[in-house]
Amino acid sequence: MSDKKLWSGRFNEPTDAFVEAFTASVEFDQRLYRYDIQGSIAHARMLAKCGILTEAERDAITTGLEKIGEQIGRGEFEWSIGLEDVHMNIESALTADIGDAGKKLHTGRSRNDQVATDVRLWLRDEIEVIRTEIKRLQEALLTVAEREADTILPGFTHLQTAQPVTFGHHMLAWFEMLGRDSERLADCNRRMNVMPLGAAALAGTTYPIDRHYTAELLGFSRPSENSLDSVSDRDFAIEFAAAASIAMMHLSRMSEELIIWSSAQFAFITLSDSFCTGSSIMPQKKNPDVPELVRGKSGRIFGHLIGLLTLMKGQPLAYNKDNQEDKEPLFDTVDNLKGSLKVFADMIPAITCRKQNMREATMKGFATATDLADYLVRKGTPFRDAHEVVGKAVALCVEKSCDLAELTLAELQAFSPAIGEDVFAVLTLEGSVAARNHIGGTAPDQVRAAIARAKTALVN
Ligand code: ARG
Repeated sequence: MSDKKLWSGRFNEPTDAFVEAFTASVEFDQRLYRYDIQGSIAHARMLAKCGILTEAERDAITTGLEKIGEQIGRGEFEWSIGLEDVHMNIESALTADIGDAGKKLHTGRSRNDQVATDVRLWLRDEIEVIRTEIKRLQEALLTVAEREADTILPGFTHLQTAQPVTFGHHMLAWFEMLGRDSERLADCNRRMNVMPLGAAALAGTTYPIDRHYTAELLGFSRPSENSLDSVSDRDFAIEFAAAASIAMMHLSRMSEELIIWSSAQFAFITLSDSFCTGSSIMPQKKNPDVPELVRGKSGRIFGHLIGLLTLMKGQPLAYNKDNQEDKEPLFDTVDNLKGSLKVFADMIPAITCRKQNMREATMKGFATATDLADYLVRKGTPFRDAHEVVGKAVALCVEKSCDLAELTLAELQAFSPAIGEDVFAVLTLEGSVAARNHIGGTAPDQVRAAIARAKTALVN
């Protein structure tokens, strides 16, 4: 295959060797080859349908491109930096193989609408893969939620013990976050799935093309409206990076909890050995590397979002070479988001709850203080007064280093005569969680009902 530049006509001097390497994108955009070929075949079919190519030319192009695709798949294609990008590498190889018909493929299009199409086709598939991984992680969370629907741990606000919650309920909180992530990606995909092909360089083309037909062949919902916007729009890349950033922020928060919970000080959970590593100097260590790394990776994904926004902010219409810089951040975002989701989906079912430790920690923090206040309200005390009474009871417990349930009835009654023998039932952890028995509450019955709804939602 010749390295002759496809645009060399008007040039007298060869490209500076460093500039050639500096401006080339083939080292990373070759990743798009399947979509470049898919787009080109659809384009050729449309050209033939509109009488711009003969059927024989269309067939030669199609067979030739398919052959190149297989060659690339087998790792036998020779990429050339001199041919700049994936598009010109493939087109040159096609012409080398089938001759003049290959030279006609680029009729009525430009690399500007071509690359805008390729990236959309690629990202559309990746979004599907990512959404499948999200679903797998959600299923893992439901498995743990089901197993631990009755397991009690302290719920925190300000990282101070607040009220008892169930571990199943906590898993379902994560499930909700991921559900929104999946929806956001689907929404991004819906807006992205319009076809730029036909916009050509920026203004459209003089050939009698049928953009609806190409859009249909490629599974786009419709051709894009405006040619200038079509070749320059990278909103979808930014939207995707934003959705990916939010998803990584969620994974990072989950990571943080897993790390805290698996510390010796909390000791709420054990992560499986297969997801931890040791220390080269401290023999006792078992480090939660996987969640730590996921927490760390959120940083680069947020960086890509800012990078893409900055890439676009100064660009006049229409296409500018700046846009070539959209690919590496997108590729990196996809790879790391997929990897993080995968490792989470594998790791989560292998969490073991250390129930006794969770229980003892819940007992320590006066987690049922609100239950006592609610009890007083049921006995006719206004909530603010009840709050005050319980605050005083807690102060006594702090002084005596005991829990509310360990005070005697006489001690409790000294704070409020409304308190009776039945108070001790509300001070238990089981009573506390079971009482929050409404949709969205932490009661085990509600957790089980929420799991059932979640399962139905996941299959639909
Ligand atoms: N490699 C280019 C990119 O990724 C393809 C489009 C180039 N178009 C051009 N007019 N130089 O954006």
